[in-house]
Amino acid sequence: MNFDFTALDRNDCYKLLLGTVMPRPIAWTTTRDENGAINAAPFSFFNIFRPDTLGISIGSGTFSGLSKEFKDTLINIRATREFVVNLVPFCATQKMVVTSIPFSRVAALGFLLLSLTCKGAHAQPRGELESLPDLLNLLYLVVVEPLLPLLAGAGLFMLTRSHLIAAGLSALGFGAWGALYFSRLSLDGPLSGALYGLGVDGIASGLVALAGSGYVHLIGAEARRLGTERTAIAHAVGIAFAAMAFILLLVTHGSDKVGIGLYLVLLALSLGVSAATGSFGGVVATMALALIAMVHGVWGAALASGVRDAGQAYIAIFYVPPLLAPVLATAAIGRWLGGSLRARRSDDRPG
Ligand SMILES: Cc1cc2nc3c(=O)[nH]c(=O)nc-3n(C[C@H](O)[C@H](O)[C@H](O)COP(=O)(O)O)c2cc1C
Repeated sequence: MNFDFTALDRNDCYKLLLGTVMPRPIAWTTTRDENGAINAAPFSFFNIFRPDTLGISIGSGTFSGLSKEFKDTLINIRATREFVVNLVPFCATQKMVVTSIPFSRVAALGFLLLSLTCKGAHAQPRGELESLPDLLNLLYLVVVEPLLPLLAGAGLFMLTRSHLIAAGLSALGFGAWGALYFSRLSLDGPLSGALYGLGVDGIASGLVALAGSGYVHLIGAEARRLGTERTAIAHAVGIAFAAMAFILLLVTHGSDKVGIGLYLVLLALSLGVSAATGSFGGVVATMALALIAMVHGVWGAALASGVRDAGQAYIAIFYVPPLLAPVLATAAIGRWLGGSLRARRSDDRPG
């Protein structure tokens, strides 16, 4: 069979080459960075290559995406001139695959995926938050910027009473902003960067704005049903908890233990607040906000620690929906419990 590599797509050529050398052994490679932090990652482009040269080769590519950064293994080997190749026993296959996740991504998942017991799955602190402008920049990136489309959605809904207008205008506005930003960053040219920014920022901001407008709608509906006082209590408790959870994870470098503790408190609050106030939607919405704030706390901690691929910590956002299922259940139980207690109390009342 002949393949014309000049006519084929680059990706297809790569897949054909990959399939040519099968199966490949895995070099589970451990290295240390200049500060001594250990890194492990698997590499299947691994072999000895000449009988007269005592050496082995490992082929490290770059991370895909706009940044095309070198991998930590290569950076560490260049810096320290040392690495250790471990052969992978079958029983360690899963752990080996876990180490192919960029380091800070493991850090972020640490508290969410309790099954991942990678030792030292924290964002490694490399210096504290140094100066006030750095802290302000960090807070802008992990608090202000993500909140802007939420607030825009909420504000536009209050003005127009239309979810569609709120989400659409926010998507257009933030999409244009993203296009401008990424057109200057892209290695593949300004147009592809602009399209990337428009698509990614536009869609993400539109969805967040929709959540903001939905949240305002929900507050109105709950206030009519439960009264303003109970609604205010349910939402204020949830928002205060979200802020506290964010700060705690930021200052503890995204600690797994703090994350697990906060999640348990979050479940207890869902039960208690919904029982006390009768709120269900408000409790679930604010607890979802708290989970998202926790992801931002871990992400902020990774950024503050100077972890090179800290952006990967954000992948933990995908674990918010499954973690919400127990919140839904506890809030529903709480609401039912509170309702039946109130009903019994009014039955007991004489006259
Ligand atoms: C089984 C397996 C084999 C891999 N082989 C390679 C490889 O040969 N070259 C490469 O650049 N990446 C390879 N990867 C991906 C890297 O392990 C992955 O990009 C990792 O995050 C690099 O980590 P580092 O930044 O700590 O070096 C492989 C991943 C798996 C799961």
